[in-house]
Amino acid sequence: ASEAGDHDLVIIGGGVAGYVAAIKAGQEGLKTACIEKRGTLGGTCLNVGCIPSKSLLNNSHLYHQILHDTKKRGIEVGDVKLNLTQMMKAKDTSVEGLTKGVEFLLKKNGVDYLKGAGSFVDANTIKVALNDGGEQTLRAKNILIATGSEATGFPGLEIDEKRIITSTGALALTEVPKKMTVIGGGIIGLEMASVWSRLGAEVTVVEFLGQIGGPGMDAEIAKQAQKILGKQGIKFKTSTKVVSGDASGATVALNIEAAKGGKEEVLDSDVVLVAIGRRPYTEGLNLEQVGIEKDDRGRLVIDQEYRTKLPHVRVVGDCTFGPMLAHKAEEEAVAAIEYIKTGYGHVNYAAIPSVMYTHPEVAWVGQNEAEIKASGVKYRVGTFPFSANSRAKTNLDTEGVVKFIADSETDRILGVHIIGPGAGEMIAEATLAIEYGASSEDIARTCHAHPTLSEAFKEAAMATYSKPIHF
Ligand code: FAD
Ligand code: NAI
Repeated sequence: ASEAGDHDLVIIGGGVAGYVAAIKAGQEGLKTACIEKRGTLGGTCLNVGCIPSKSLLNNSHLYHQILHDTKKRGIEVGDVKLNLTQMMKAKDTSVEGLTKGVEFLLKKNGVDYLKGAGSFVDANTIKVALNDGGEQTLRAKNILIATGSEATGFPGLEIDEKRIITSTGALALTEVPKKMTVIGGGIIGLEMASVWSRLGAEVTVVEFLGQIGGPGMDAEIAKQAQKILGKQGIKFKTSTKVVSGDASGATVALNIEAAKGGKEEVLDSDVVLVAIGRRPYTEGLNLEQVGIEKDDRGRLVIDQEYRTKLPHVRVVGDCTFGPMLAHKAEEEAVAAIEYIKTGYGHVNYAAIPSVMYTHPEVAWVGQNEAEIKASGVKYRVGTFPFSANSRAKTNLDTEGVVKFIADSETDRILGVHIIGPGAGEMIAEATLAIEYGASSEDIARTCHAHPTLSEAFKEAAMATYSKPIHF
């Protein structure tokens, strides 16, 4: 059946996974169609994820800095006011520019963009329920599923995106809540807590585990992050679970108790953000019709070449295995097209960076210390604090540390964990180092410009096998 098709490739979903695959396929000369039901391209990331959150993080940081961090720098300002409507407009302008840019790139690469919801009719036929009404049917030699993910709800709390919100509501509030409670101290919880706390909300984060930061963050770094964010005004209740909630009153009441059980306490807030993770979204695809399988967490089951049980149907991005990150989706999209085109593709899952865009930023790549310890590998740790870095000192922005972990026999870098100014940019160097199989000494013997924050990175590498110069 797999030789049939008006199109070489039909992609369902125009998020980062889908649109990147579409561009790559167009470049490779495959006759490609991309189906997206949202009305705009770019998926969660561009519309209600990475991009709008970074806009609000950047501008709320500026506002907060002007309010609290200019006097000592010799800048005196008066009458600082928040114009939330304008801040939201600035965010919308960035989003619109980028989603339209993606549409242009699809056109430029000869991809047919269909606005509507795609579903399987049979193994090679996709039906599109068009947003404008009507239906279109596409025959495809290859099919790529890239339908992404959605926020996981909290039982008993109905999301209205106004008082009980997911990240989508948190990116579009029309006024600053007086009291906001965040359920889940993962990346979404902490980024959104930062935004609204900087803008004036009293924010409490309730986290089930003893540590904030979500999966992957190194425990030592997470502890520092909690301390620094705490100083900024965010309250934390770790090792605490939300038992139930009631939104029928003027405020939302959450019943919380210690994770291990104990006395219940009531938390009242104007807005509750549910940020306890995301789950794959594959609704309405009619997968049963063609026998494509999900695992117990709803992830579409694939092999190493992204193939489902039907070898011409592949899956990439949030709706399958691996971290739910835009850059992971992008790598997979390119690899999947390369498999279709040449039979070979590759993603190095050991070198996918993670960044939390708070201030300071937290970024890491490779394994954390607990994971390395558990693996039984002997390792060495090298750290360097930003308080000893000349540039951080001149910038009056010295909170944080760079932490290297390397194999104690070979010195090969196993993980790098950073909390500090510019960590999100700096982690690219660590990712490259891991990709190239570098040792900590390779980094330490590479000349880094002075005065830059990246000297802290170099000196942490130095501290791993020898001693740093400036600490
Ligand atoms: P999605 O972006 O979810 O795209 C899937 C698309 O498919 C959607 O647009 C959907 O409408 C469409 N679709 C679904 N079913 C159908 C159908 N049947 N027919 C047609 N279309 C369909 N990641 C980062 O790396 N960095 C960040 O800073 C970051 N920040 C984030 C902030 C927030 C608040 C959130 C929620 C997420 C963030 N992420 C971030 C995660 C990132 O958004 C996702 O990893 C990424 O969007 C995954 O891309 P995707 O293409 O797999 O899925
Ligand atoms: P997450 O999985 O990162 O964190 C969820 C947190 O909620 C965990 O710490 C978990 O222990 C806690 N939790 C779960 N159930 C709970 C409960 N009942 N009560 C209290 N705490 C509970 O999920 P999050 O933050 O929702 O983000 C989803 C995904 O979006 C992430 O996996 C991430 O990949 C992606 N994302 C990435 C960003 C970035 O790269 N900067 C930004 C935002 C999201």
